[in-house]
Amino acid sequence: MNYENLKTLIQESRTTRRFKKDTKVSMTDLREILDLARITSSAMNAQPIKYILVTKEDDVLKLAQTAKWASHLSSWDQNEDERPSAFLLMLNDQMIDGFPMFDAGASFTAISLAAKSKGLSVCPMASIDKELCKKLFVIPDCYDVMIGIALGVGAENIKLVDTDDFDTNYYREDGETHCVPKRSLKQIIAGEY
Ligand SMILES: Cc1cc2nc3c(=O)[nH]c(=O)nc-3n(C[C@H](O)[C@H](O)[C@H](O)COP(=O)(O)O)c2cc1C
Repeated sequence: MNYENLKTLIQESRTTRRFKKDTKVSMTDLREILDLARITSSAMNAQPIKYILVTKEDDVLKLAQTAKWASHLSSWDQNEDERPSAFLLMLNDQMIDGFPMFDAGASFTAISLAAKSKGLSVCPMASIDKELCKKLFVIPDCYDVMIGIALGVGAENIKLVDTDDFDTNYYREDGETHCVPKRSLKQIIAGEY
């Protein structure tokens, strides 16, 4: 893979909140995706991140219904026909002394890219109902639920927009195309020496 291929993959790996109805994500897909997440960098190589894989329709529905979708879009909420097909839950194994926030971010990037390369899109969800997760699944006390990741076949147009504004809230153009402002290269380079 060259730089341009990787650039396209990263550009197209966007948070997605509207998914195609009646498509399945298999346990095999989730396991293959996690087989890449598990080899990402980890502070002290401690690897504290564990996962729960969810494809059962009832459980996916409950997780999707209780999470908060797109807090910047006050007049939109995900409808019945836009639900994801699966969830991954990222857990921090507190028995392992590590740097879970950073490790989770590194793993999430691999998950997002691996999913995209399989034709799937994802939405990382800090708003996942953690208490509900503990009710639905067997989660040992030493595992802290960090974040949920919804997965499915994406069904929305998403556009990246370079910005020099302070405000980076995403918005829907004409109520349809989802626009995601990203600070320009000039804005993020704090120094060059
Ligand atoms: C740690 C984290 C938590 C997030 N939690 C939510 C969430 O609960 N609900 C949601 O709709 N989007 C959530 N998002 C998605 C962000 O809103 C999204 O990453 C941002 O709008 C930029 O879009 P992009 O991922 O396509 O670059 C989360 C993203 C991250 C990184």
